[in-house]
Amino acid sequence: MCKREELNMFRSMAKLSALLMVSSVSLTGCSKDEPRKVAVAPVASGTTSPEPVRDGEALFKQYCANCHPNGGNASDSERTLYGSVLKRNHITKPEDIVRIMRKPLSRMIRFDASTLSDKDARTIAEYVLKTFK
Ligand code: HEC
Repeated sequence: MCKREELNMFRSMAKLSALLMVSSVSLTGCSKDEPRKVAVAPVASGTTSPEPVRDGEALFKQYCANCHPNGGNASDSERTLYGSVLKRNHITKPEDIVRIMRKPLSRMIRFDASTLSDKDARTIAEYVLKTFK
């Protein structure tokens, strides 16, 4: 994607997120534009998983991407999910990201355990750390 397109996308995401905040639409309202993607992480043969395994990308798209498109931040450009920025903000481990989901700094929505299990939260955190450089 070229720089200009990225910038435009970022701007429209910023507008969208401002709108969402004004009308205080809940999280479920956030995901209306998302492609429905059912991703299943590979499970080693012979193991059975009691609950469906959702991969980090799918979870991120569902819960985070509206405000963090491509790891950016639609409303606070100092708080993106890019590795260098996370490091500057002392976020270096999956636990650090999970902590922010459970207890955001200010404007981010809180994700409690009934929304995102510890396992899903950790899967997202690991995805964020390995994906956005
Ligand atoms: C409603 C919009 C919104 C959603 C949804 C959202 N965030 Fe955020 N996020 C923010 C904002 C705004 C900040 C800046 C700090 C603040 O105001 O809370 C932020 C900050 C962060 C930070 C700190 C970044 C830094 O550089 O300091 C992390 C990590 C983060 N979000 C992860 C996530 C994850 C993971 C999800 C999905 C589970 C998510 N966020 C969903 C809006 C959102």
